[in-house]
Amino acid sequence: MSFHLRVYDSFHYSDESEADDIGHFETYEEALVEAKAIVDKFLASNWKSGITPEKLFAQYDDFGDDPSIIPDDPKEQNSNQHFSARKYAISRVGTICKEFEKTKIEIQALYQKAINFATEKHVLMDQNVPGTILPYVVHLSNVAMEILTAASETPSLNTSFAVQVALLHDTIEDTSTTFEELQNNFGIEIANAVSALSKKPDLPKDQQMQDSLNRIKTLPFEVWAVKLADRITNLQPPPSHWTNEKKYAYKQEAQQILNELHKANYYLAKRLEQKINEYDNLI
Ligand code: NI
Repeated sequence: MSFHLRVYDSFHYSDESEADDIGHFETYEEALVEAKAIVDKFLASNWKSGITPEKLFAQYDDFGDDPSIIPDDPKEQNSNQHFSARKYAISRVGTICKEFEKTKIEIQALYQKAINFATEKHVLMDQNVPGTILPYVVHLSNVAMEILTAASETPSLNTSFAVQVALLHDTIEDTSTTFEELQNNFGIEIANAVSALSKKPDLPKDQQMQDSLNRIKTLPFEVWAVKLADRITNLQPPPSHWTNEKKYAYKQEAQQILNELHKANYYLAKRLEQKINEYDNLI
């Protein structure tokens, strides 16, 4: 016995012409996992800080997708196998509101820890934003700001992971920080991410970027997103001593990053594309 899902949007409920049949599932349980995921996805992407469970449910009730589990052979309908998306949504809104609010508070604490750690490391190197008197932490917080803005457009982005990687992304390349130190303080995923975002100094210069991009591409989209955000932040008016040749090469490198990593995040890819076009006026 096999199943598919018929998905109505609540807005057109009971209007068969507005229903889509999707998926093919060998068992009722498999179909159930997918049906619940559809409801959860809507609730997650419509959650906003401070929203009440009642309000979130009201949005689902008005606009959410309403999947039903349908046996491929209608004669096989079993009365025990009835999924109500509405009842499931009611059972989920309280948990989602609580969990998401908690995650937000976690992000704030993790942000503080990462920015303090990174700032100290870059201060020890006496590092400024190149060509300015600004402390290096301005660059780091700008990259984190790009990530937070992108996160509000990208419900699937793991914001706490991405924002920590953003703040720490130059610690291995530019300071005395070691992989082990990052692993001990922030965990192996973050250490791996920062490592991939660091150029290997022993490689020939013209291979370093492509090598780093290759390593980034073996990791989650959050790491790709930090690389996009980094270059968006760096496409500022170049230092006055740069030759046009150097500016042109910097632009070409930005294009290479965009070509390789654009599919990680639509919002950041669009933004980098725009920055590259604007950079033309500075050459
Ligand atoms: Ni950077």
